[in-house]
Amino acid sequence: MICTQRTSAAAAAGHAPARRRVLRHTGRPSRSHCAKVAGDPSTSHPVPALSPSSVPPPAIGLWRILRPLLFRLEAERAHQLGLLLARLLPAALTAPSGRRHAGSDVAGSATLATRVMGLDFPNPLGLAAGVDKDAEALGFWQALGFGFVEVGTVTALRQPGNPRPRVFRLPPDGALINRMGFPNDGADVVATRIERLRQQETLRVPLAINIGKSKATPAADAAADYRRSFERLGELADFVVVNVSSPNTPGLRDLQSVDQLRGIVDAVQTPNQTLARPRPLLVKLAPDLADADALACARAALQAGCAGLVVSNTTVDFSTATTATAGMSGGLSGAPLFARSTALLRLLRESLGSSPVLIGVGGVMDAASANAKLAAGADLIQLYTGLIYGGPALPRTLLRGLATAR
Ligand SMILES: Cc1cc2nc3c(=O)[nH]c(=O)nc-3n(C[C@H](O)[C@H](O)[C@H](O)COP(=O)(O)O)c2cc1C
Repeated sequence: MICTQRTSAAAAAGHAPARRRVLRHTGRPSRSHCAKVAGDPSTSHPVPALSPSSVPPPAIGLWRILRPLLFRLEAERAHQLGLLLARLLPAALTAPSGRRHAGSDVAGSATLATRVMGLDFPNPLGLAAGVDKDAEALGFWQALGFGFVEVGTVTALRQPGNPRPRVFRLPPDGALINRMGFPNDGADVVATRIERLRQQETLRVPLAINIGKSKATPAADAAADYRRSFERLGELADFVVVNVSSPNTPGLRDLQSVDQLRGIVDAVQTPNQTLARPRPLLVKLAPDLADADALACARAALQAGCAGLVVSNTTVDFSTATTATAGMSGGLSGAPLFARSTALLRLLRESLGSSPVLIGVGGVMDAASANAKLAAGADLIQLYTGLIYGGPALPRTLLRGLATAR
């Protein structure tokens, strides 16, 4: 068992985190990353920058051959192709038979298993929101070794998202910039898909569903819109993430004010508390909030009954990327996000104590960065951009690194 044990969202209080071991960072520090965090007086422990040690970050195994081919395609087209293969490939193909025998698969090893929010996670590494927005390939992510999967962002209304192109690679930085704008099938369709999966009982890892505001819904009706999504999806999830931090839906991040956030969480809690087993709720925060504002939001969310926070979404601050980004808009993810998202994570853990569940996401590219998130106070971690650069073998490679460090 690792790090922390939490019996339930409500009973989380009072569980002190156990030891957290740290791997040494192998990435070479980038001056711009260090300067940003070191210059922030409110951050008591500056987080070292993490930047890929090779350019672009190393692909693992077969991905060394496939990545250059896929990187010739427009980024979203490559993603869609990957998703199509992920849907079609039987899970058995992606989980070599030897690994399925008890004890031989690092993704299910007792060393990495953890219990958080009353849920059993085979390991603490999850797939971040946005990779599989519509819950199309859950068996595949599980077969890659992820210890949990977050689908979404799903909105109450089906929507197309922003015009393409809307995802861009920054290989020298090990980064992406996206302005997707929550394209998704809508809560009804995604719920039907997950209902089918639940009936088949093929899902062995916890499932998080990330909900966001429909673009067509006016800000004044945001709380009701989140509630609608929760009413359709909440019971199908093991826990629910309330996303108020994407930079790509106009006005969404304004919902990160204490009053707005409280209104949204209250609106979701109303149907949640009628469930036989109310689901733990987490709020996903932006790394661009000032520390004091992030802390105020986090406290408001916890006071409204949330179990914790997901830290963080992408950043609109492109200054940590070395690639030219003039004229680009959207959210930056990957290695250049590591320092700020980890500093915010650490600040929240230090300020809020051991009770809230914290999921650390942003720039997890390898075992060292994953371990640094855990050391900064994360109970669980997630990645998105790392998968694009490292490839499908990354989860198990990373987990082997984590297991070795324990
Ligand atoms: C193309 C793309 C789409 C994303 N879509 C979502 C989304 O729909 N909802 C969400 O909460 N986060 C979304 N994210 C943010 C990720 O979940 C994650 O918070 C962020 O990318 C930082 O993690 P990373 O550095 O490992 O990529 C998206 C990120 C990318 C790159």
